[in-house]
Amino acid sequence: MNLLRRPRRLRSSAALRQMVREHTLQTHDLILPLFVSEKVEDRAPVASMPGVFQLSLDALVEEAARAHAVGICGVLLFGIPAHKDEVASQAYAADGIVQRAVRAIKARCPALVVITDVCLCEFMSHGHCGIAEFSGDDVHVHNDPSVELLVKTAVSHAAAGADIVAPSDMMDGRVGAMRVGLDAAGFSQTVILSYAAKFASAFYGPFRDAAESAPQAGDRRGYQMDAANALEALREVALDVEEGADMVMVKPGLPYLDIVWRVKSQFGLPTAVYNVSGEYAMIKAAAARGWLDERATVLEQMLAFKRAGADLIVTYWATQVAEWLRETR
Ligand code: PBG
Repeated sequence: MNLLRRPRRLRSSAALRQMVREHTLQTHDLILPLFVSEKVEDRAPVASMPGVFQLSLDALVEEAARAHAVGICGVLLFGIPAHKDEVASQAYAADGIVQRAVRAIKARCPALVVITDVCLCEFMSHGHCGIAEFSGDDVHVHNDPSVELLVKTAVSHAAAGADIVAPSDMMDGRVGAMRVGLDAAGFSQTVILSYAAKFASAFYGPFRDAAESAPQAGDRRGYQMDAANALEALREVALDVEEGADMVMVKPGLPYLDIVWRVKSQFGLPTAVYNVSGEYAMIKAAAARGWLDERATVLEQMLAFKRAGADLIVTYWATQVAEWLRETR
């Protein structure tokens, strides 16, 4: 055998492998999602997401500070209110749980980028992402009145000091309406990170335990995207970009890497991917049984996001990955 091409040459030592490495994962690529609850003291574990907690305001600030200390640049906040109603009033209350959380984190870590998830499902008694009307098992979520509430929510987050608002509701026209509303309220510098291609996914299951946001009837397929559609995802992203999104997100992550790749290639905007709760739960469950090596699989998966073109990775492992990266430096 006389091979002219020997790709293995470049893999023959750790140093050579390092020299030809195309992608690297860095701590500043990571965003940590955090759940703040008006109902818990200190912290309450989320059964389906080992290592993830619903946090009191004080515990939240501690978690945010701990993440910041290891180099995490941004946190993404979800709020669980004590009271829910049919118009999600706690979503846009000036003293709502998310608004208070933003102020508390900013007071402790002014340089940490605070991103708020803008959605109504955690604040609605029925768990849908907008104003809902039920007929039997079916639900219709009214678009335009929901957008009005979402804009109010985004403005209230900006007023509390959020650097980035991240609409995750999938209503039509919400990004444009939010841009206009934010600008009119004097928040022209507030960044919009749009969950532009968000699929109706079974991988959100554990999150709905954490955020107490499972729909009580019907499902989200009337507003979140069909898993079968890639071109439609590009149309959704195009609309959000036109409407003024500064950054876009694809969600879930691992099962949708093709979408990440296409979105990044086509639009070139800062592109985030959400490594969602079900993706977290899968590895945690397998690792707990000794079936997978958690650290190795997680780092490999993070690299896959980077290779697919993601600039930012929203992951429940953010602080842990930052610690691992420090150890291997
Ligand atoms: C709110 C929202 C959801 C997630 C982020 N924002 C749940 C949903 O749409 O039902 C899921 C995140 C995760 O699974 O980690 N609309």
